[in-house]
Formats: sequence, structure tokens, C-alpha cells
Amino acid sequence: MRAGNDSRKVRSSQAGIHPRLDGLLRRYRESEWSQPLHSPSCRAFEALGPLVEAAHRPLVLDAGCGTGQSTRRLAERFPDHLVIGVDKSGDRLGKLPARQFPWCEKNAVWLRADLTTFWRLARRAGWTVDRHFLLYPNPWPKPGQLQRRWHAHPVFPELLALGGELEMRCNWKIYADEFAFAVSRFLGRPIEAASLAVDEPLSPFERKYRDSGHDLYSVVSRSSGV
Ligand SMILES: C[S@@+](CC[C@H](N)C(=O)[O-])C[C@H]1O[C@@H](n2cnc3c(N)ncnc32)[C@H](O)[C@@H]1O
Repeated sequence: MRAGNDSRKVRSSQAGIHPRLDGLLRRYRESEWSQPLHSPSCRAFEALGPLVEAAHRPLVLDAGCGTGQSTRRLAERFPDHLVIGVDKSGDRLGKLPARQFPWCEKNAVWLRADLTTFWRLARRAGWTVDRHFLLYPNPWPKPGQLQRRWHAHPVFPELLALGGELEMRCNWKIYADEFAFAVSRFLGRPIEAASLAVDEPLSPFERKYRDSGHDLYSVVSRSSGV
């Protein structure tokens, strides 16, 4: 079905879970990722530290928050938490009335940072998160783009190590199945992707895909972190 606010479904030559995924995950389990950190994201993370300490609240991460609307919704849904929205895109975050980052509104705070550095620093700082959202990550649908998908990226063990309830939502079944497969491999128990019915969209991409008639999927897992 095509609707007014039209968006194309994900197209890929891939027919199922990528055959290289399991081998990559094995490699990531055996050795830590050592690529240098991104300096501006380190400075951004440093500026966030005092806010997190002062808040004394459990944390919710909205990883890849785009224009930040989902962070605001999550802050309403979790009023006793500090909800941190992180995105690397100045253009997307520029839709907020922020004069600088970190930018706070009540129990929400937004940060401009690259997640591949942010997750590693959060882990090194010993953070644990209560809820962790990855809403509609870029799908990277070409088979050759596998390692750009979060569950096939070397940073994946670091984001899982933050613990809590992790929820990934997307509009591509293969991404959802791969994500569930990767989480299962790390946590050592079966996790399945589920169909998602959305009444109140949590984010702009969720609204766009729902209004375009796409099937939506979610993968939810719980872990105590490492
Ligand atoms: C498809 S958009 C989804 C935005 C939002 N979550 C939503 O559902 O409306 C993916 C977002 O992930 C962000 N992103 C991709 N790679 C990132 C990275 N390495 N670090 C931080 N943000 C990243 C992009 O800038 C973009 O805003």
C-alpha cells in the first residue's frame, strides 16, 4: 500500500540472515574493538558526565534519536529517569531549540556524538542503563554493507554490555531477524523478532513508515550488562 506520506519499503538482494553474520559475531566475542575514539564525541561525553551524576536517576538511552522527538516522548513516559538522546547529525538535532549540546529539557538531555564512541565511553565509565532504544536505525540493505548494521558492527558488544532492556525497532524483517540472532548469540538464549502494531508513533520514522503501510518489527531483550 502506498500512502500520502509515502516511503519506500526496504529492498535488498538478501533473502535471509547474512551468511557472514555468525562469523563476525564470533570474532567480536573473541577480541575487543580497538579503533580510535572520535575526539569531538569524547568531549561531548565529558560534558554530559556531570549532568548524569547530578541527576541521580536511572538512565534511558535513545540511540540515534534523529530530531529528538522520541527522546521527549520517552522522557514523558519515564518521568523518574534521565533520558539521553544521542545523534551524530547536526542537521537532525538542529530541529531542537538547542543553543549548545548537551541540551536539557526537564528529564531529557540531547547530545551530539557518534555512537561508536559514545557506547564505548559509557561502558568504560561503568554506566548501566535501564532502557535502551534503537529506533529505526539505517538499514544498510546491500549485502556488502553488513558491517554498517549495528548488530554486525564491532561496537555491538559494547552497546549490549550497557545492560537493561534493549529495544530495536525497524521496518525490514531481515534486519530484525539478524538483530535477534546477534543478541541471542551474545546472551546465550533465544530472542525472536516480533511484529509491532503502533497506535502512537514514538518517532518521526515510525510515523512515516506506519503511515506508508509498512510492516514494523521489534526486538526486545533484557540483560544485566557486563
Ligand atoms: C533512520 S534515522 C532514525 C531517527 C529516529 N530514531 C527516528 O526513528 O525517527 C537514523 C538516525 O541514526 C543516526 N545515526 C546513524 N549513525 C550514527 C552514529 N554512528 N552515531 C550517532 N547517530 C547515528 C542518524 O544521524 C539518524 O538520525
